[in-house]
Amino acid sequence: MYAKEFQQSLQAVEAAREQNVAFEPARMTAQQKEDLLAAYHPDYKQSEFAVLQFGPNKGDKVPHELCETLQAKSRIKASDVDLTAPDYDVDVLVIGGGGAGSAAAIEAHEAGANVMIVTKLRIGDANTMMAEGGIQAADKPNDSPAIHFVDAFGGGHFAAKRDLLAKLVCDAPEAIQWLNELGVEFDKTEDGTMVTTHGGGTSRKRMHAAKDYSGAEIMRTLRDEVLNRQIPVIDFTAAVELILDENGRCAGAVLMNMETKDLLVARAKTVIIATGGAGRMHYQGFPTSNHYGATADGLVLGYRVGAKLLYAETLQYHPTGAAFPSQIFGALVTEKVRSLGAKLVNAKGEVFMHPLETRDVAAASIIRECSDRGNGISTGHGKAVWLDTPMIEMIGGEGTIEKRIPAMMRMFGRYGIDIRKEPILVYPTLHYQNGGLDINVDGQTTNVENLYVAGEAVGGIHGRNRLMGNSLLDIIVFGRSAGKNAAAKAKDTTVGALTLDHIAKFEAERKAAGVDSDAVSPKLLPDYTKARSEI
Ligand code: FUM
Repeated sequence: MYAKEFQQSLQAVEAAREQNVAFEPARMTAQQKEDLLAAYHPDYKQSEFAVLQFGPNKGDKVPHELCETLQAKSRIKASDVDLTAPDYDVDVLVIGGGGAGSAAAIEAHEAGANVMIVTKLRIGDANTMMAEGGIQAADKPNDSPAIHFVDAFGGGHFAAKRDLLAKLVCDAPEAIQWLNELGVEFDKTEDGTMVTTHGGGTSRKRMHAAKDYSGAEIMRTLRDEVLNRQIPVIDFTAAVELILDENGRCAGAVLMNMETKDLLVARAKTVIIATGGAGRMHYQGFPTSNHYGATADGLVLGYRVGAKLLYAETLQYHPTGAAFPSQIFGALVTEKVRSLGAKLVNAKGEVFMHPLETRDVAAASIIRECSDRGNGISTGHGKAVWLDTPMIEMIGGEGTIEKRIPAMMRMFGRYGIDIRKEPILVYPTLHYQNGGLDINVDGQTTNVENLYVAGEAVGGIHGRNRLMGNSLLDIIVFGRSAGKNAAAKAKDTTVGALTLDHIAKFEAERKAAGVDSDAVSPKLLPDYTKARSEI
């Protein structure tokens, strides 16, 4: 199917395939990795960052686009809203209808709370739905949460908050059981044993999957559970400001109907931000694997009321975004493709790295190959490298691709590329926000009482880089925990008089800092009528 401009390189890849399958590329040393990251990883490109001029993280650097949105004006004035007659009055308000929000709502409901989900799109329109490769849990006899901790702590450059990471890995086996009992159809052998594989940076096979539809299968199950429990879900309704009470505790949110733009007030004893990631901010002009609504909204909502961010300057560029054809530019090519044996190969047919280095290292290595080394393949959207998928069936036998990664086979098959016979072209794509709001181990923000956070809007669980499969895990572990804890806290909370005074305070700080852009936030949706650099 590939046009003639690819043929010369393709022939080199095919000629070297048998030898490349057998070839065991060396792992990089710690020093080699450090040097590679400093020279090629986008997080290290200083010109792409700006310093926050005010707010809880004043003085910290974050990507330009995030800096602008964090320091932007509110979408509303306090006088636009009547706080004395709330439209909704609940114990726990969950903002966001993805995996973390749904898991939180289920547990809050289980604890007897009156809980409501609001979401700017529909329940399930979320990065959870787009996740492919799997969810980690150390539940096999040769593994343990301690080994899982060591893998993830090292992979995250020893920067994870230890108590958060310890909770993640210790609660993981029970999270898998919970999902299994709710009805997630994990891949299993005939005797019911879960099939597990490696991911980048894992020393044990602990990736549980539902083929390469793992996130969709988990989201399907969680959504069913939310609906079966008749938890109210307010669709197409965005949170545009949090509300505090007179005691400075979080006490609800101002909501905006996405169609009519009408404003509504939700009063709540506790609030959980579960708004997900930021891929649609297109940092540094990268394409993204994220869903349409991933615009860092939760970070803005929290920052405005004084919640601190942690590691907001670190992003994850998934090494294997689809680079060709253009219809799927930036879409996720799951790491499971490499777990099953496909190697990354340059234009000359050379394997240039171990396929299961951690993601930041793999992405930087591909960028080096396509830039300074001049070993990339031109795609019409820049350069790319090959991911040699036919190797999978040479290793695992005929039928492995259809059985284990059918979504990949279909995604490329639609454009006439049979990944069982032909390699695919890949390049890093913006995939995950490593940083986010700073929480304690109960999921509450470290400095705003009664404000909880779960999922991709949290910073600190993974440190400065996340391993594959630890995100589907964190939405379950920290989603459930936030739901339980927010429900318990709601029982002890009496909400005082509601206020939006923080909007004027924020505006005054903005003025004093000399920030005068007209941008408003949260962004809510990307604007594709503008050039990507302006989105
Ligand atoms: O490659 C993947 O399937 C992505 C998984 C993840 O981000 O955890």
